[in-house]
Amino acid sequence: MTSKEIRNKFLRFFEKKGHKIVPSSSLLSTDPSVLFTTAGMQQFKEYFLGESSPYGNRVTSSQKCFRTSDIEEIGDTTHLTFLEMLGNFSFGDYFKKESIEWTLEFLTKVCKLKKEKLWITAFKGDKEVPEDKESREIWRKLGFPENRIYGFSRKDNFWGPTGEQGPCGPTTEIHYDSTGKSCSLGKKCLPNCRCGRFVELWNLVFNEFYQDKDKKLTPLKQKGVDTGMGLERLAMVVQNKASVFETDLFSSTPQAKAERIIADHIKGSVFLASEGIIPSNVEQGYVLRRILRRAIRYGKILKMPKNFLIPLAQKVIEIYKDVYPEVKSKETDILTIIQNEEEKFEKTLERGLKEFDKLISRNKDIKGEQAFDLYQSYGFPLELTEELAKEKGFKVDKKGFEKAIKKHQEISRAGKEAKFGGIGKEAGLEAAKLHTATHLMHQALREVLGSHVKQMGSDITPKRLRFDFSHSAKMTEQEINKVEKIVNQKIKQDLEVKKQEMLYSDAIKSGALAFFKEKYPEKVSVYSIGKFSKEICAGSHVKRTSELGKFKIIKEESSSAGIRRLRAILE
Ligand code: ALA
Repeated sequence: MTSKEIRNKFLRFFEKKGHKIVPSSSLLSTDPSVLFTTAGMQQFKEYFLGESSPYGNRVTSSQKCFRTSDIEEIGDTTHLTFLEMLGNFSFGDYFKKESIEWTLEFLTKVCKLKKEKLWITAFKGDKEVPEDKESREIWRKLGFPENRIYGFSRKDNFWGPTGEQGPCGPTTEIHYDSTGKSCSLGKKCLPNCRCGRFVELWNLVFNEFYQDKDKKLTPLKQKGVDTGMGLERLAMVVQNKASVFETDLFSSTPQAKAERIIADHIKGSVFLASEGIIPSNVEQGYVLRRILRRAIRYGKILKMPKNFLIPLAQKVIEIYKDVYPEVKSKETDILTIIQNEEEKFEKTLERGLKEFDKLISRNKDIKGEQAFDLYQSYGFPLELTEELAKEKGFKVDKKGFEKAIKKHQEISRAGKEAKFGGIGKEAGLEAAKLHTATHLMHQALREVLGSHVKQMGSDITPKRLRFDFSHSAKMTEQEINKVEKIVNQKIKQDLEVKKQEMLYSDAIKSGALAFFKEKYPEKVSVYSIGKFSKEICAGSHVKRTSELGKFKIIKEESSSAGIRRLRAILE
């Protein structure tokens, strides 16, 4: 069976059981406390908590997921950063019995896996949450002998919540016995053994609790089911392959660790770039930079030619273009982003490695300032330096690195303030007006072009504003006019500009935009303009929008790959 068939069969199977098929949501998480979508349930989080679901109470999906939590494991047979999660979900509808029965039916009848190869784990209970005897009993009734059902603790058989709070509960998991032979690690070889014998295939979460920020559990009003099965792993066992890399979800069959890391990271990069993420030094952009640069470094070890990532990215696009058309429609942007990053890093990687060797030859752990220098001068993400150091048996002073970054930011901020401190009162007022206009324009751009628009840079002089933002296409005349019109409308409406001081985490929770590239202090200023715009900002603003005059965009151009630049004035 091809992976395409497996994906379709899964969705159809659950459709027949009364589930609505819901498309994958974006890889960019809607939950501000996490960077990426890491599980199928994320887009349904509210429905587990009792909010009414527009799709009904039974849904199924194949969800694009991205996780860095397993990045160290990549190179083995089953771990990946990008994966597709097949799932079925019940919001206060069916519970353990149905979901366990359907799981077995799908794996044995549709996927034709041998039941004898399936092993079960369930929650064994602790002080707070009792043992999940019910799931065990259901499996037993379905013909699973005691010696293929094992109880594990919270670490393995309790799941959630994603982010800071949310639904969670005990799980039962299905592991596939790929070799049928006990390992020689000296202990009993059971599911969760690290020898690689068992492939953790499907996780069934029975959401019964709500965990708050203080990790306190309270029972949920309604019980729910959240399941997740990695398509790549299922394809691996159905297609009878020794690793996920040998399935048809990869184009070659990389064996060496370095090759597998490259194969995984290029796939992750294609999908991240397809969401409008651009390599940068913060948040999602930083993760993209980190995996691209890690792939480039491994490419160097394998003596790959210049721009070797491009043909690999094209292969990824080929594999996924029918299922996720965005990888094809954004192909040019994706390839440009990858190529730019490769060229940028290519220039400094070699010199950086030499510098690193020099540091190491002194036979000492890497100091914070030294790691910062590798980051600042040679573009080495901290994790890359850590990995290089680990390979030689050394450590990196991470805290020292963070201190060095902070110190550097303070110095550059002080420099900026000195620059602006010199301007007169009159000019200061003009700059404040343009600051406020920038917020209006940012929101107007999001309304006209879409919420993928993110501020990538801003520069304000007393005469004009300049604004860089993520968007792949040149703006049309019409779009520019629309943005101008919205901003001028908001100016006419004479909206109040309000400033509030709050904790960064509260600001994000309240929905404030926070996209510029600096790291934020714990306490931030949030400026809201009427109900129209809300942003974290350190600039000074006017009191009411009517002070702005007439807003006009004077230039639209490309800034770099996937980033447009606007210049605008107030007349
Ligand atoms: N949400 C569960 C997981 O990610 C199914 O494993």
